[in-house]
Amino acid sequence: MKRALSGVQPTGQLHLGNYAGAIRQFIELQANHEMYIFVASYHALTSGRDAPALAAATRQVVIDYLAFGLDPQRTHIYLQQDVPQVTELCWLLSCVCPKSLMDKATTFKDKTAKGIPASVGLYSYPILQAADILSVDPDVVPVGEDQRQHIEITRDLAEKFNHHYGEVFRLPDILVRPDAGTLPGVDGQKMSKSYGNTIDPFLAEKPLKKLINSIKTDSLPVEAAKDPEKCTVFQIYRALAGANDPRTTALAGKYQAGGLGYGQAKQALFELILEHFGPARARREKLMHDPGYIDQVLTSGAQAAQAKVCEVVARARQACGLGTSRAAITIQ
Ligand code: ADP
Ligand code: TRP
Repeated sequence: MKRALSGVQPTGQLHLGNYAGAIRQFIELQANHEMYIFVASYHALTSGRDAPALAAATRQVVIDYLAFGLDPQRTHIYLQQDVPQVTELCWLLSCVCPKSLMDKATTFKDKTAKGIPASVGLYSYPILQAADILSVDPDVVPVGEDQRQHIEITRDLAEKFNHHYGEVFRLPDILVRPDAGTLPGVDGQKMSKSYGNTIDPFLAEKPLKKLINSIKTDSLPVEAAKDPEKCTVFQIYRALAGANDPRTTALAGKYQAGGLGYGQAKQALFELILEHFGPARARREKLMHDPGYIDQVLTSGAQAAQAKVCEVVARARQACGLGTSRAAITIQ
């Protein structure tokens, strides 16, 4: 069976972009992959220093993974801090990583431009991501399009390590959902936690409706024919319903024919979200009141991930002349 690994940072509430680009693939891949899905809490430390907020968001990502449909019977769900051996791998990879490779990474430039402090952690973020990935020997890494450079860096580092020390790492492939693209937010820019333009599919109905009504549209009158491709409301609708769904084609037809007001399109999107996420919203309600279950999921996820990661780290240590550890590491 093929293996997949991915993660999302706990930097805020998950949104429709995270779902459409990443999480929906996780759910689909469960059918025929061995899955490692984690919460990238160490990564989140590169962009925020509010400890209670990080702890709460970390927990919430796990709840939301489960609510969206990750099944702990089929997926190892774990927190990055529960498998700290990955940071050792990060160091081994850092030592074969040319500084010029990090200089080329766009995330550091983008994030510092947004005012995030230029820490060394933020600078070497892609090496930690490579370690996350390589630590479980995955075949594929399901992510959104914006993560492409990180996966390329991962492959590059694996090749460099293998070149020096022998065939230690498998080179994984990126998996981007062909119809996902980059989902726009309510202001039409890329939907992102850091732009404050996200749509949270778990919002209560009233604020959800208000948020959808706030999606920016042009000022064409109701009777005018409209290009659905240029409309954020339509793009989000299509991403959720699917490009070939008859409801999407029908909505596109109404845009083109004229006579459709943006209020109507927004109402259709609101109804679609409630329908699409109905089961997830109900599951989340229950999970919010079952902390014991969440702990149980995380404990078994951490155990499974540690077993695999320790095997890979031992292989990498051995290859570069460090031998195996004399002390077993036990994390409480
Ligand atoms: P954010 O930009 O909101 O902080 P993350 O960087 O935590 O999101 O992304 C988590 C996952 O969700 C990644 O795989 C990323 O590619 C995907 N993703 C995030 N935003 C979008 C979007 N607007 N459209 C498609 N995929 C997205
Ligand atoms: N950089 C990813 C993001 O911002 C999160 C992440 C960290 C990740 N480590 C990973 C994604 C390993 C896939 C695999 O979304």
